[in-house]
Amino acid sequence: MEIVRELRLSTPEATVLPESDGPLVATIRAEIEDSGPITFARFMELALYHPERGYYATRDDRGSRTGDFLTAPETHPIFGRVVGRQLHEMWELSGRPTPYRLLEYGAGSGVLALDVLRGLVADGSELQKALRYRPVEVSVERSESIQRRLADDGFGANVERDGAAGSGCVLANEFLDALPVHRVLEREGRLQEVFVGWRDGHFVELPETPSSQALAERLAAEGVRLADGQTAEICLGLDAWAADTAVRLERGFMLLIDYGYPAAELYAPTRGGGTLRAYTRQRAHADPFVAIGRQDLTAHVDVTAVTTALAARGWRAVGETRLADFLVALGVEDLLGSIRADPATSPAEYLALRSGLVRMLDPRALGNFRVMAFGRGVPEGPVLRGFAGRRWVSTSPTR
Ligand SMILES: C[S@@+](CC[C@H](N)C(=O)[O-])C[C@H]1O[C@@H](n2cnc3c(N)ncnc32)[C@H](O)[C@@H]1O
Repeated sequence: MEIVRELRLSTPEATVLPESDGPLVATIRAEIEDSGPITFARFMELALYHPERGYYATRDDRGSRTGDFLTAPETHPIFGRVVGRQLHEMWELSGRPTPYRLLEYGAGSGVLALDVLRGLVADGSELQKALRYRPVEVSVERSESIQRRLADDGFGANVERDGAAGSGCVLANEFLDALPVHRVLEREGRLQEVFVGWRDGHFVELPETPSSQALAERLAAEGVRLADGQTAEICLGLDAWAADTAVRLERGFMLLIDYGYPAAELYAPTRGGGTLRAYTRQRAHADPFVAIGRQDLTAHVDVTAVTTALAARGWRAVGETRLADFLVALGVEDLLGSIRADPATSPAEYLALRSGLVRMLDPRALGNFRVMAFGRGVPEGPVLRGFAGRRWVSTSPTR
């Protein structure tokens, strides 16, 4: 059984869910009443990113211990420290340029950048002086608050406000799975799109003619034919995002960490219901129409679509592995040993580190996340250190 973000799937009924956000529901409903049923991607965009009432607009501790799910950077600082080691190698392979830009999409609370910088200091890496960090978030306010957090921690010189294209690395952890998706349904040999309507006081799903040819074209380009009755999610926003990365960074590497599969696996008939998941209070379920504005919505990443969109912008795939193997290849076990041996480490600190690491290495939790590296305008070189261990081994889709 596949476990996503270490959460057991449960029905909304089995979980005490928060109420939907009333004003947000009214806003979405008004849009439907004004202009007719909306795509699921539009519903997801409003539910997550409405500037005042959206899930990500109202609190910034979503992916933390006190929030609704726990991401790797929020689990323990050792994650950022190990990512920093991979960045150091990428910087060296790029000829140690100064400045070296770190562009983080979906930076959340900014904790990953902070831990990367602290880790570089702890490792004595000269990259720390060259690094210029720029978060890319849904709002300017969010990005500014991340920059303030770094400055408060003594890394003000590493914060970059107006990033010109140059040399550096694009970083994104659990960002792609948060982009809005369209939902499609194969019925009697025809592809339909699932729209969201409003009837009798509820949001309802309405299969209709697709809003865009691009949906069928994406599946056709990937050689995917859905089974009759199969539902699937498609992220059309990937192309715009890939274009954005190419504008913001001239040359360098990219490190993506997320859960996803190549199209053939993602759209296999065994995943007949798709991969849309809702997360609230450390629980997962599959109903997007409850707890609106109070729960996260995600869908597994189509790795084939990501690779294709990036290739069109000159990004070449240079590595792919599981998170557990990535961390081990970059020496996380030795790091654990040296932190344990350090007299400054208290028993409580060591235990927190060890339990965080167990989550990151456990294939039923974060360990099975996919880590992907891409390069653009960088010389073809040796296999990156984080990818020198085991290559990605597919797990059979069993859900
Ligand atoms: C699941 S959270 C991950 C946060 C952080 N990377 C972590 O691992 O803890 C997804 C993040 O992506 C951001 N996000 C979603 N769509 C975005 C977009 N189009 N541009 C920039 N950030 C976006 C959200 O605001 C949110 O902070």
